[in-house]
This record gives sequence, structure tokens and C-alpha cells, in this order.
Amino acid sequence: MNAATHPPPKPATAGTPVKRRVRYRGTHPRRFVDKYKELDPVRYAADHARVIQRGDTPAGTHRPICVQEVLAVLEPHAGQTGLDATLGYGGHCRELLARVLPGGRVFGIDVDAVELARTEIRLRASGFGEEQLIVRQINFAGIPQLLTLIGGGLDFILADLGVSSMQLDNPARGFTFKSEGPLDLRLNPDRGQPARVLLQSIPLNKLTSVLRNHADEPHATIIAQAICAQREASCSTTALAAVIHKALTTSDRGLPETEIVRSIRRTFQALRIAVNDEFSALDQFLRNLPLCLKDGGRAAVISFHSGEDKRVSKAFADGLAADTYSSICQTPIRASARECDDNPRAKSAVLRWARKRRDP
Ligand SMILES: C[S@@+](CC[C@H](N)C(=O)[O-])C[C@H]1O[C@@H](n2cnc3c(N)ncnc32)[C@H](O)[C@@H]1O
Repeated sequence: MNAATHPPPKPATAGTPVKRRVRYRGTHPRRFVDKYKELDPVRYAADHARVIQRGDTPAGTHRPICVQEVLAVLEPHAGQTGLDATLGYGGHCRELLARVLPGGRVFGIDVDAVELARTEIRLRASGFGEEQLIVRQINFAGIPQLLTLIGGGLDFILADLGVSSMQLDNPARGFTFKSEGPLDLRLNPDRGQPARVLLQSIPLNKLTSVLRNHADEPHATIIAQAICAQREASCSTTALAAVIHKALTTSDRGLPETEIVRSIRRTFQALRIAVNDEFSALDQFLRNLPLCLKDGGRAAVISFHSGEDKRVSKAFADGLAADTYSSICQTPIRASARECDDNPRAKSAVLRWARKRRDP
């Protein structure tokens, strides 16, 4: 045992019985709670590094995507003020902070209060003080409310859309069908209704169009019919997956298992977008971007599916046509083959950028 990575156990308080956690005996725990070494990267640094080396993302963490590409596009430098509109685990934010210091600052916002608090603690522990990093729980749809606090426009804004690996991995948040959990899917667990409540009353035609419009689901009708026929049975992550699996196996015998799993994944994505009203928030964010950027300021958005990317691409093209932006990316930037090998979550990432016009 390495004394540096295994601090001595805390002494028991008098009168409090010591309750030892039951340790997982295998080498690759399947349950989130058993991944205690991955969930404590400071204490178990070597185990953490081993998981990354295997090409996996350690449980409870997130690996930032297209970092070098984002830095090349935003060109952050000392003294600048920027916004990370989707702070997540803080991976992009750390890199941005490293470049705006000394003299600069980064605002980091996220809707998820649970992960935001953890990320702020980690970033503060790395030495980023209140002057350098300003953290707020704000939906990026409302970024103009930051302008008074900022005292002017921003030099750059980054949005890395969707969910973080921490949110996906934690069964209690209900984002994954790979383990049993409540069907929640809210990015901010204090707002809106969980997906299981939505599924109790959503009309069949509305559910079908949610599946089509939010995830391009080719089997939308079959899936929506199955869910509406078994609303009570679709209230947990694995139960919903089972309903979809059964519907697709019985109705279309030729459908391979991989295609069924894709449909389950797309259904979860569609429900997540609906529950969090993600497209409205993104549209509002894209409308507000130019208001919040300084002249010559840069924006970068990483999308993970066509519904997001279509909106980003159109907003930037419209901004260019209206002379709001002086330049935008002509072709979307994708993660390198090496990054996709290292981190399969990078495969679907599409990065686009825009630069606000400078008044002559
Ligand atoms: C892909 S993760 C970002 C990861 C981050 N770039 C990093 O390096 O760790 C997306 C994050 O955006 C947040 N998010 C999604 N929609 C949001 C919104 N409308 N406003 C603010 N945050 C949002 C999610 O809660 C999640 O933490």
C-alpha cells in the first residue's frame, strides 16, 4: 500500500460505531457506487490514470473534447474575460483560465447545481480564486444577466452542449439505461418535471414527434405506441429500455440488437432534450451571443447531434448575412482520429465558431 495515495483512516468519534464500506472485490466494477477508486481521483491517482489509459472515462469525471481546437478558435490570452457557458467538470475552463491569467478571468456557468458545486471546489482547490473564476448556476439561455456583473462584453464564449460524463454515469440522475435508476433526465434536478412524470401524460402524437424531432428516431411510432400502452411500466431507466427493446424485437424481427440499442439511446436523448427544453435554451443562447460579445469577440459551440448543430450552423450563417459576425467557420471541425480512439465520446462532436464584427 502506498502511504502517499492511501491516507490513514479517520479515527472513530467516541460512541459512533465504525461502519466499514463493503469493498468490491473485482477489478472492473460495474456498479457506479463500487467505482470508489475512480470516484476519488486525488486519493487513487494511479487507478484513475489506468482507467484513462484503457481509453475509458473514470466514473464521476469528464474528459474535455477538442480542447486544442477550441483554444485555436477562441485564442484566449492574458487579460481577457471569457465565459464557459457549460462548465461541467471544468476541463475546458481550466485550459481557458491558464491562458487568460494573469489579469484575466473566466465566468463558469451551468444549470446543474449538484456538479457545479463539486467543480467549483475542485477548481478553487487548484488555486483559482474568486477574482479569476466566477461561478454561477445560470441557464445559458439567460447570459445577458451576466453583463452587469462583467461590466462590459466578453472576449470569448464557449458552449460544449449536452450532458457531462458525470451526469451520464450516475444512475441516480436517470440519464443512462445501462443501470437501474429513476427515469429523471433533468440537468437541473430542482426544475421542471422528471421524464417519468412526462411519460405518464404525454399524448401519443406528441411523444412520436418528440422522438422524431429531437433524435431522428426511425422507429418513433412503434416506440411511442409501446410507451403509451405501458406508461406505468416505463418509470425507471431499465424498465423504459425493456419496453422499447420488447416493442422493437416483437414488431420487427429483422432488427439487429445494435440497432435496438441505438433506438434506446436515441429515445433517452429525445426525452432529455424535451425534459430540459434544450432546443429553446440553445436558440435563446444563440440569439444572445452577439449581445454579450465584445466587437471582435469569438464564440465556439460544440454540438453532439444534428438537432443542435443545425441550429448553431443556421444562427452563425444568419449572423454573417446580417453583418453581425465578420467570419464564421465554413466547415465544421471534428475531433482528431486519435482523440476519437482515446475517447469515443468525441466521435459525434462538431465544433463551430463565429467572430463578431468590429465596428470600423
Ligand atoms: C458536455 S458537458 C460540459 C463539459 C465541460 N466542457 C468540461 O470540460 O467538463 C455539458 C454541460 O452543460 C450543462 N448544460 C446543458 N445545458 C445547459 C444550459 N442550458 N445552461 C447551462 N448549462 C447547461 C450540463 O449540465 C453539463 O454540465
